[in-house]
Order: sequence, then C-alpha cells, then structure tokens
Amino acid sequence: MTHLTDMTDASSAGPSAWERDLYAHLTTHVEAERGLLQEYRAAAETSPSKALRYLVNMLIEDEIRHHKIFTDLAESLKNDALLTGGEPAIPYIDFDQASNRESVIDLTDQLLQKEQEDALQLKHLQHELRDVKDTSLWNLLVDLMQRDTQKHIAILRFAKKHAGRRKR
Ligand SMILES: [Fe+2]
Ligand SMILES: [Fe+2]
Repeated sequence: MTHLTDMTDASSAGPSAWERDLYAHLTTHVEAERGLLQEYRAAAETSPSKALRYLVNMLIEDEIRHHKIFTDLAESLKNDALLTGGEPAIPYIDFDQASNRESVIDLTDQLLQKEQEDALQLKHLQHELRDVKDTSLWNLLVDLMQRDTQKHIAILRFAKKHAGRRKR
C-alpha cells in the first residue's frame, strides 16, 4: 500500500506538502481512534456497572463510525493526491448539478421538516422525563437524541445550501 508520506516531491504530479501533512495527520488520528476504541471495548467488558457498560457500548458505535470517517478521509485524500482517477471513498459535492439540484432541495426540505418535528417531540419528552432526570438514564438518552437531531439538521442544511437556490 502506497503511503503519501513515503513519497517525495520528485514527481511534479506527486502530492503537495499540504497533502502529505494532512495525510500524516489523518493516519495518526486513525491510530489514536483505534487506541481509544480498544479502551472503550475493555471498559465495556470489565466494568462492574451495567449502566456504564450500556453507555460505553453507545460510545463504541460512535468511535467505530469515527474510525470509518477518518479512514475514508485518508483514502479520499490519497485518491486525489495520487491522481488515480478512481472514485474517492467520500463523493465529491454534486448537489448543484443540474440533474440533482431539484431532488436534493425537495428531499432535504421534507427531511428537515421531519427533523424539526422530531426536535419538538423530543423536547416534550424531555419535559415529561424531568422527574426521573437524576434517577435513570432516560433523560440523558433523550438529551443525546436531541443532539443527534441537531446534527441531522446540520447535515441536511449543508446539502440544501449547496444545492443552491431553486430557479423559479
Ligand atoms: Fe472519536
Ligand atoms: Fe433524525
């Protein structure tokens, strides 16, 4: 497997200094994430607390996703820097292409509406759970879902914004 950090600037088509630095940064981070994941896995197996094991198992799912994202970033950077001409693991932004724009705007509009409704329902649910706020994990879990909902909204807004304005 070719590593960008092994390459020099000898070839004019080779990766730039920025690309090599970023690649080194990403691959270092993949290693750090792997270490953290192992610590979480150990905690999930050894903690005497059922509640902590439940929460740590959720964090493990996040860390697995982070690991995949960092790997995708590194692979995509390598794909671009080496001009392999292949499809990068992370697709290029194509929201504003003529064939995509309308459907991206329609879909993100619909989904944003659902997410806003979801946000409102979670707010009500959190209010209902206020009495068990410190005696169960429920309120924490609803709080986490609210944060997820904000994340989902940010993702959809990004796609919609980059699809541009509808021409009417
Ligand atoms: Fe992480
Ligand atoms: Fe959502």
